Amino acid sequence: MTAQQEQRVALVTGGTSGIGLAIAGRFQADGMRVAVLDLDRPHAREVAGQRGFTFIPADLARREDCRRAVEETVSALGGLDVLVNNAGFQHIDPIKEFPEDTWDTMLHVMLTAPFLLIKYAWPHLTRGGQGRVINIASIHGHVASPFKSAYISAKHGLIGLTRTAALEAGEQGLTVNAICPGYVRTPLVEGQIADQARTRGLSEAEVEQKVMLEPAAIKKLLNPEDVAALASYVASPAAWGMTGAVLDLDLGWTAR
Ligand SMILES: NC(=O)c1ccc[n+]([C@@H]2O[C@H](COP(=O)([O-])OP(=O)(O)OC[C@H]3O[C@@H](n4cnc5c(N)ncnc54)[C@H](O)[C@@H]3O)[C@@H](O)[C@H]2O)c1
Repeated sequence: MTAQQEQRVALVTGGTSGIGLAIAGRFQADGMRVAVLDLDRPHAREVAGQRGFTFIPADLARREDCRRAVEETVSALGGLDVLVNNAGFQHIDPIKEFPEDTWDTMLHVMLTAPFLLIKYAWPHLTRGGQGRVINIASIHGHVASPFKSAYISAKHGLIGLTRTAALEAGEQGLTVNAICPGYVRTPLVEGQIADQARTRGLSEAEVEQKVMLEPAAIKKLLNPEDVAALASYVASPAAWGMTGAVLDLDLGWTAR
C-alpha cells in the first residue's frame, strides 16, 4: 500500500451487496476511504455502517440523485479519486413483452447514471493525476442471450462509454476501464438460479452446471472477491498505463 493510495477516496455504486460490497471492502483494505452508494434501504445503511463505509443513499434512476451523490461524497470525504459504476439489476422477458418503463429504468441505472457520475465527478477525478473509473460491465457487454434486451443493451453501451471516456481522459492521468465478469455468486445470480430451477424443473446445481456454466471453460461460479481483486489492481497506481481496456474475467466464456 502506498501513501497515495491511503489518501484516495472511492465511490462504489451498488456498494452494499455482491460485487460492489466486495470491491468496497477490498478498496478499504487497500487503504482508501470508501463511500458506497445504494438505494435507501435499512439493510443497505446497516451494511455500510457495520463496514465503516460512508453511505450515500441514492436512486440511480434519478438524474438529480447522481449529481447529489457526487457532491455528498466530496463533502463527506474531501475528494473523489476512484469511481466504480457497479449498480445494476436484471429483468428477463422477451422483447415483445418487455415492460417499457423497466427498459427505461434499466438503461438509466446501468448506462445513463455511469455517464452522469463520470461527468459530475470529472473535475475531482482529474485533480490528482491518478483518477480511476471502473465500469462493471459483463460478458453480456460482448455477447447476447435471449430475454435480456435492456441489460445487454446497457452493458454493450457501457463498453462504448468506457472507451470514449478513456480517450477524453488520458491527458489528465484519469484511466477508464471496464471489467466484464462471467457469472458471479451474488444475490442477483442466486435469484436467477432459483428462478431457472423453478421454470425448468431442474435442481439449482443442475442450473449452475448445465445451463449457466454450459458455455464456460471453467465450470465454477466466480466469487465477488475475484472481481474485487482485479478492480484493486486497476485502481492501483501500477495500472496507470491501462485505459480503455475491456477486461474479461469470464471463466473462458467468450474464448470460443
Ligand atoms: N453477478 C454476476 O454474475 C454478474 C456478472 C456480470 C456482471 N455483473 C454486474 O455486476 C454488477 C453488480 O451485480 P451483483 O451481482 O453484485 O448484484 P447485486 O444485486 O448483489 O447488487 C447490485 C446492487 O445495485 C443496487 N442498485 C440496483 N438498482 C439501483 C438503483 N436504482 N440505484 C442505486 N443502487 C441500485 C442494488 O441495491 C444492489 O445493492 C451489476 O452491474 C451486474 O450487472 C454481475
